[in-house]
Amino acid sequence: MKKYFLALAIMVTATGMKAAGLTASYLRCEYKENPVTDVPAPRLSWELSSNQSDQLQTAYQIIVASSQNALNESKADLWNSGKTASRATYQVEYAGKPLKSGQRCYWKVRSWDKNGVAGPWSQVARWEMGLLDKSEWKAEWIGLDLDHLGKGKVYHLPPAPYLRKKVQVKPAIKRATLHVTALGLYEFSINGKKIGDAFLTPGWTDYDKRVYYQTYDVTSNLKSGANALAAQLSYGWYAGYLGYSLLVQNPVVRAFYGKVPLLKAQLEISYQDGTSETLVTDQSWKASQGALLESDLLNGETYDARLEEKGWNTAGFDDQKWKPAQVFPDKPERKLQVYPGPPVRITQTIAVKTTNRRPDGSYIMDMGQNFAGIVRLKVKGAAGDTIQLRFGEKLHPDGRLMTENLRMARATDTYILKGDPNGEIWEPKFTFHGFQFVQINGLRQAPDSQTLTGLVIGSDTPKVGTFETDNAMVNQLYSNIDWTQRANYIDIPTDCPQRDERIGWTGDAQVYVKSATFNRDVASFFTKWVVDLNDGQRENGAYPLYAPAPDLRKTDTFSPGWMEAGIICPYQIYRAYGDTRMISQGWPYMTAFMDFLEKRSNGAYVFKENAFADIDPKGGFGDWLSFGKKTPPDLLASFYYAYCADLMSEMAEATGNIKGKQHFTATAAKVRKAVLAHYTDSEGRFKCDQKAYGDGAGYVDGALGFTGHTQTAYANAIYMNIIDPAEMKKSGDRLAELLRENGGKLATGFLGAKPLLPALSATGYSDMAYKLFLSKEFPSWGFEVENGSTTIWERWDSFTKEDGFKYNAAMNSFSHYAFGAVCEWMFGNAAGIKATRPGFAEFDIRPEIAPDGMGREGISRLAASLRTMNGMIVSEWAKTQNGLTMKVVVPVNTKARIYIPRFSEGQIFVNSREINQSKQVKILGKEQGYTLVEVGSGTYEFIAPH
Ligand code: BGC
Repeated sequence: MKKYFLALAIMVTATGMKAAGLTASYLRCEYKENPVTDVPAPRLSWELSSNQSDQLQTAYQIIVASSQNALNESKADLWNSGKTASRATYQVEYAGKPLKSGQRCYWKVRSWDKNGVAGPWSQVARWEMGLLDKSEWKAEWIGLDLDHLGKGKVYHLPPAPYLRKKVQVKPAIKRATLHVTALGLYEFSINGKKIGDAFLTPGWTDYDKRVYYQTYDVTSNLKSGANALAAQLSYGWYAGYLGYSLLVQNPVVRAFYGKVPLLKAQLEISYQDGTSETLVTDQSWKASQGALLESDLLNGETYDARLEEKGWNTAGFDDQKWKPAQVFPDKPERKLQVYPGPPVRITQTIAVKTTNRRPDGSYIMDMGQNFAGIVRLKVKGAAGDTIQLRFGEKLHPDGRLMTENLRMARATDTYILKGDPNGEIWEPKFTFHGFQFVQINGLRQAPDSQTLTGLVIGSDTPKVGTFETDNAMVNQLYSNIDWTQRANYIDIPTDCPQRDERIGWTGDAQVYVKSATFNRDVASFFTKWVVDLNDGQRENGAYPLYAPAPDLRKTDTFSPGWMEAGIICPYQIYRAYGDTRMISQGWPYMTAFMDFLEKRSNGAYVFKENAFADIDPKGGFGDWLSFGKKTPPDLLASFYYAYCADLMSEMAEATGNIKGKQHFTATAAKVRKAVLAHYTDSEGRFKCDQKAYGDGAGYVDGALGFTGHTQTAYANAIYMNIIDPAEMKKSGDRLAELLRENGGKLATGFLGAKPLLPALSATGYSDMAYKLFLSKEFPSWGFEVENGSTTIWERWDSFTKEDGFKYNAAMNSFSHYAFGAVCEWMFGNAAGIKATRPGFAEFDIRPEIAPDGMGREGISRLAASLRTMNGMIVSEWAKTQNGLTMKVVVPVNTKARIYIPRFSEGQIFVNSREINQSKQVKILGKEQGYTLVEVGSGTYEFIAPH
């Protein structure tokens, strides 16, 4: 009897819960969980769930209070939004009392569903405000100039400065907050313990304009009495080697921003008795050098453990022999801001897969995966034993480590043992490498499974996408794409993580940004980098070749296909996350860029042949790394002009800028008209005036000649809507024809590869897109997988069976995401997940089913998911004997149109009911081989018979 009542009670609560409507969870502020921010009106978001289908939010209420105790409707002292009629669950701006520096804000939210039923309050989340005014910084820049040391033959690598100070702390600490940053890189510790788990802090910016800081709650790190505050510094992006400057013999090869790495730290302690104090970096700190003899991002670290000063970062250490720290002036115009991106962290550890002894007694260890990071070394030996670690992505056919593609990056870590009989463990702090193989030299015994551990580093962008099929090649390709993204999203989006480059190339970033949003939540990552882009805008209004943008080579200026990143990246972030703030903040920069284009076109609204002959290389990079005759860079520049004008018009509308919308709509129309007039023949084929390019000297691959009639031209024209909609199909036919003429093989480079498959799909050639996608023949994505790749390569022919690694000493990265931009088609077409409104508030599911008859080389089952600002979207399809099954998950508060492939007039079922009997879906009609339905939130399983 008792049991029966208990069961009843549970049932009642369960149904009670059902009536309670929407549940809000995953509360975030500025895209992060419980962050520190200095954004005056931070944006809040939450995710809704419901056990009913077709649910949406009709209103929300947010309350914010300065303490958890005050977090209820009557006491909330910062903000009570009241019941606010709105569908918004993200980009909701805090609109309460002005927030002060250091303010802690606790918040929760609840939502009303479509029936007006209020859901339960969410769990409590919080955020904290950083230092809002630069004048609140009392700390000075301190350091130790060791630049005169470390001059070598090729590299100038001075030792890393160590800084410390013993401080007295009173009893009964209530709260202690540390704000810390560096010009260079820092690792801060209190009483010998590293603060925080971030790596490569405070990141790379244009340090003359701004530097970011981190804020940590260090209440539990301090004790009453004597404490040691300590930091190790490194040269990093501020003072170390950057990019290919050494390779190209730039007059400056390192120390682009300053020679001496500097620390600025401020510790604010408040006590139970109401008093408080602030401890800062100043001349009273002590400085020295220690075991870290060399420390450089590109060149690696050298650590002599015999030089360790035991306990140097603890309170009991006698620092009499240390020098007083040097104080350096600030630049008044330099901003100090909270780091807006996701921290770079060690995100995974990897064990060695296999070990091979080399004839010289060294060992090469294979990690089984190409990645960016470092290794942790565990050794036992005598004092003075020297272990050298070299890193490579590939082996030569004879088993040697391939390091030629690192070019001038020394990428070597060296550890000199102190001779601890219990063994020694070491890992570098301020460098990273791109590698799969490690060559280890100097061991006394053969290595074991513990000798090396791979530590994967990268910006810790939450994983939001999954993509799986019954085709092993495709699954490996997806894994390769995600790994390449992880290896290159390290504080900034880089081209590659291994050689002497690793810079924020804007072309690579713009072609890949949309793909990135399908794999990881990159909203805050781009919030950071778009500022770098804006900071790097050139005087004439062009966005730079790379951002941040020190002059690594005098001739580095701008290039079509690269310089548009400043428009395309904010646009894609807006589409993926509904972010309009990035648009408003970037607007002055974006319009300056559009003005630049207009001026450059001399009022013609098209870039005619040789329009960019004054830049280096001539015309810019064009369709970089394509095969065959070149697509004129000026034609591509003109397409991009129209495309950017379109995006500007849409972004203007999104921010309520009607005039802007009109202006850029008109610009786009003018450009289209001028482009088609100049670059098409009477049949609508793309052409160019070849003669204008002469022998092509100075142009990238100019000797190959130029033609407008290329895969890249049609793919981009279709993707960017350059052509009249009525002519679109014809361009698709031409693209298909060009592919056929080329033996069914792609010839596209950086600018052509991304739109290639989407353009085929958009013009009725989905089967052809699939053929390219599934091909294993060179050149293709599958060829790389067939040849053992675990990441995406820079060139289609980075390796070929005939020529091996023929580009190694020049430019041959095996971790370059640009061609990974096929990911956009994988999610957008193969899985068919397409946002029709920003943030996926409304979306289409329109899967393209892989062609039949390919057996194991084809795809008969595909499952993709994407966690959006609105929650999880799922799109799955599987071929069955009787037809096709599809599963779609539509998150609460969104609407989707689902395209169900129709093979026959047979009845379609949804959730086991005949579709026209179902109340769950609204049939909209039939379109191009699909039955089209509209649904609200819920899970839908369709069966479409043959
Ligand atoms: C980089 C690229 C970049 C290019 C410019 C290369 O060295 O690695 O990815 O976009 O230069 O064409």
